[in-house]
Amino acid sequence: MTLLDRFILEFDTALRSVVGGANAGRPIPGSEVGGSTTLNADERKHAAGLMRVNHVGEVCAQALYQSQKLVARNSQIQEMLDHSGQEEMDHLAWCETRLKELGSHTSYLNPFWYAGSFAIGLAAGLAGDKWSLGFVAETEKQVENHLESHLQKLPEDDHRSRAIVDQMRLDEIAHGQAAMHAGGVNLPEPIQKMMQTMSKLMTTTAYKI
Ligand SMILES: [Fe+2]
Ligand SMILES: [Fe+2]
Repeated sequence: MTLLDRFILEFDTALRSVVGGANAGRPIPGSEVGGSTTLNADERKHAAGLMRVNHVGEVCAQALYQSQKLVARNSQIQEMLDHSGQEEMDHLAWCETRLKELGSHTSYLNPFWYAGSFAIGLAAGLAGDKWSLGFVAETEKQVENHLESHLQKLPEDDHRSRAIVDQMRLDEIAHGQAAMHAGGVNLPEPIQKMMQTMSKLMTTTAYKI
């Protein structure tokens, strides 16, 4: 691929993250239960709020993986980031589909989330590969915990959303492990705390808008 091809591809990914139209490489989980829903209006609204939070998380994941890949110094690390990033694209597409099935919308603040995460990913990437990979691993760990909490909060009968969140959770665990195997280090505790605070801000906002 030429540099221009790469640029167009990455730009297309960014655009699909922010405005929608993501394509999944794998089928959407929960095909056995289908996308139709027997939830009442309140349950549907709650499920949509949670799935919107997850969708925003995946918008951030695209921005982080793209920016870190851009400044990674090692081609093997770039390939690993690229592979995880493609699975994040599946997550993005699945959440988008589920939001539509629930009759809801993605966050209106997606351009803001994307831009902020891209800047953070760039900073992490420029700090050097071991910190960048540590940042990926810590992010994935926090996302894993967060998805686990969603499995508690989602309406019991929302089998489709649950199947999606559970597959995402398994993938995030693998992404974190891949980053640590590639040479990631544990981040200092103040940085971990700062990341938790920022994700709290993101999750409370995205639930509503
Ligand atoms: Fe993800
Ligand atoms: Fe991930």
